[in-house]
Amino acid sequence: MDTSENVDEPHSKPPEEPKDDRREFLQKAACVAIGGAATLVPAASAITVLVSPLFQESVGGLTVRLTSIDSMKVGGPPQLFKVVTERKDAWTKHTLSEVGSVFVQRTGPGKTPENFLVFNSTCPHLGCAVEFLDGAGSYSCPCHDSTFATTGEVLNQASPSPRGLDSLEVDIRGDELWVSYVNFKANVVEKLPIV
Ligand code: FES
Repeated sequence: MDTSENVDEPHSKPPEEPKDDRREFLQKAACVAIGGAATLVPAASAITVLVSPLFQESVGGLTVRLTSIDSMKVGGPPQLFKVVTERKDAWTKHTLSEVGSVFVQRTGPGKTPENFLVFNSTCPHLGCAVEFLDGAGSYSCPCHDSTFATTGEVLNQASPSPRGLDSLEVDIRGDELWVSYVNFKANVVEKLPIV
């Protein structure tokens, strides 16, 4: 987050329109993970996490701290973490906006990336938000009924999604779980990052 910008300074001209340039975005945005969307994951414990350091730039996305490893129950249901940016510019103070969310499941007791499954919660078909259905033990997209196993693979052959859920790269730093948050192109078989 760029903390050097003085928001109280008077401006003789209107501020520039926000640019889409990724570097500028990253300079003005802090990316945080907020866990526990209980409405989508009824059985998952509701947790709220606001963490620091908040993000680091990585190739193709943002590297985000999600939670502490010990807070994830081994073999528990996937938990949903929202990825939120905090923006600051000359006209607005700090505003939070959600840029996406990820499902995280701890599959083993080890503290290595292999013991975690992390998926972008965006449906690879046309971009709706996927839910985890505790009763079924699988992911489901409410838009066109694509279903996915906890491993991310397409479950139902009638699913319109051309690929399984998009896994994300996990990193372990001490006792913390980090993820490289990336969005991918919709409705294509290949998993193509949107840079
Ligand atoms: S957007 Fe998910 S099945 Fe169509």
